[in-house]
Amino acid sequence: ALGEREPATAAAGTKGVATAGSAAAPAPFTERMPVPRVLEPERDGGLDRYRIPIRPGTAQILPGLQTPVYTYGPDFLAPVIRARTGRPVTVTFANLLDEVTNVHLHGGHVPAGMDGHPLDVIQPGAKRDYTYPNGQRASTLWFHSHAHMMEGEHTYKGLHGFYIIEDPVERGMGLPTGDYDVPILLRDAQFDAAGNLVFGNPALRTTVLANGKVQPYFPVEARKYRIRLLNAAVEGVFQLTLDGAPMVQIASDGGLLPAPVPRTDLTMCSGERVELVVDFGRCEPGSQVLLSDPTRGPVLRFDVGPRTGDDSRVPDRFRPLPVLPRATNTRDVVLSFDLSGPQPVGLVNGRPYDPNRVDFVIRRGTTEIWNVTNGDGAMGFLHDFHMHLTMFRVLDRTGAPMTPNDAGLKDTVLIPPGTTVRVQATFDGFLGRYAYHCHFMEHADVGMMAQMEIVP
Ligand code: C2O
Ligand code: CU
Repeated sequence: ALGEREPATAAAGTKGVATAGSAAAPAPFTERMPVPRVLEPERDGGLDRYRIPIRPGTAQILPGLQTPVYTYGPDFLAPVIRARTGRPVTVTFANLLDEVTNVHLHGGHVPAGMDGHPLDVIQPGAKRDYTYPNGQRASTLWFHSHAHMMEGEHTYKGLHGFYIIEDPVERGMGLPTGDYDVPILLRDAQFDAAGNLVFGNPALRTTVLANGKVQPYFPVEARKYRIRLLNAAVEGVFQLTLDGAPMVQIASDGGLLPAPVPRTDLTMCSGERVELVVDFGRCEPGSQVLLSDPTRGPVLRFDVGPRTGDDSRVPDRFRPLPVLPRATNTRDVVLSFDLSGPQPVGLVNGRPYDPNRVDFVIRRGTTEIWNVTNGDGAMGFLHDFHMHLTMFRVLDRTGAPMTPNDAGLKDTVLIPPGTTVRVQATFDGFLGRYAYHCHFMEHADVGMMAQMEIVP
């Protein structure tokens, strides 16, 4: 129903190593899903400092094969930064690749110079400090490459990782923590027979990696877990069900919902996060619970172990969302493709991205409503929409019902073909140039991106 059609963007044909055949996946559920390790900061006065090299490497993803990847740190599964509201973080990223790249903190409320503008890149061999103020609520963010026209390919090669902000209010709620708070990065992949990642036709990217593994298992105790899901796929949608255990959604992109929401299935587009509490204590010890995507099959199996003590809880209410200030301006944004030339060109309001052009000028502090339309209804292409700098609220949808995934503070939202999503945002805090774009990164890389400038 979501439409699986895709124009072949620049990636297809030119960059794809279209070797015949594909490598054998491991037998299902033979590998344990790793959990990304938490990076320890160097405490530096009032801030936490981290150092992360961006480097070429290899990963063992398929049996007996080494897959060339790009990594944040030594491993394909990037470490997690756990930041705290009100305490700034500086990450020194060293670019050890032989090409430029940069880092965007997706969902971060950060100064423009720290946002990873597509032209603001780290040269090969150079280092760059990114300082994040963390003046926002507890939320699950992530970082990835945003280098001009390379965002999709770099991220696909492995430049994706979690960045989690915690705050005292959330910490006081009694939700599962520590080993019972598990980030899971989901992404798409296609491999050739030698185990190389193929960056070509998105429709052929049918393998799903959960924390870097194909159909892993993950042992859990029979108790509650907080599970932070991220769709870090270069493009596309995961539709997820959890067979055998109840899912309770507690948070979306920008942190806690006002109250927990029971879910039976999730639709997550590229860039989105959903946080769940799953009570495996409701399952029989020894049973197995599958996280599956109906079209792709099982993604991950939870193996339920013995009942253990569990003093975590899910309160009936979390906290209200910030009040929506009155909107004083309305804008229209149309995402579409121009397929008339030899290569597809992505458009926002009829124009491909120009990193030197400002598309919208917005006075700081203004609250606006944007009508974001997928203009490719006739062709059935899916898009989604991501705004830098600020979280928005989804007000309504025309041509499609609101979904539970629209709830809360959002920075990325699915726009099915031919529909319009109305979002409201306040452009607060920082001045300068920020991107908004389709988060199907190959669409963004061929032009489906635009730029706003926040002015005094
Ligand atoms: Cu996650 Cu501008 O991107
Ligand atoms: Cu798109």
